[in-house]
Amino acid sequence: MKLTDTQIQTLIKEAQAAMTESHATYSNFTVGAALLMEDGSIVRGANIENASFGATICAERSAIASALSQGKRGIKAVAVTNATDTKVTPCGICRQVLYEYGTKISVICSNQAGEYIIHSTSDLLPHAFTLT
Ligand code: THU
Repeated sequence: MKLTDTQIQTLIKEAQAAMTESHATYSNFTVGAALLMEDGSIVRGANIENASFGATICAERSAIASALSQGKRGIKAVAVTNATDTKVTPCGICRQVLYEYGTKISVICSNQAGEYIIHSTSDLLPHAFTLT
């Protein structure tokens, strides 16, 4: 979907706010995500690390789990941000999980300055695995 500039800026700000709740004790790499849902609501997520490193959950999946747990369905867009100059893109697992909820979700990949690039889920995960 085509996002307005206001929607993009709002989502980036929400992702920046989400990032302040990050638990990144081990990597010190803080990430925040903000989903725009079909009903217009925004759901935040942050990366949550664990001493058992593999138990870490990324910000994107944290936000998705939160949204679905609240009974919300339909992801229109997601902003992802971090505290570096790199416009962070979702990891492979998060790409697969996002793809589950739509091939055309707009993924706003942002850096700490709020600069961004937008990719769709199908751009990020070409030839995605599906069961059908
Ligand atoms: N991380 C995310 O939250 N999202 C991504 O898409 C990439 C990686 C987190 C996981 C871990 O807490 C930290 O960044 C370093 O890998």
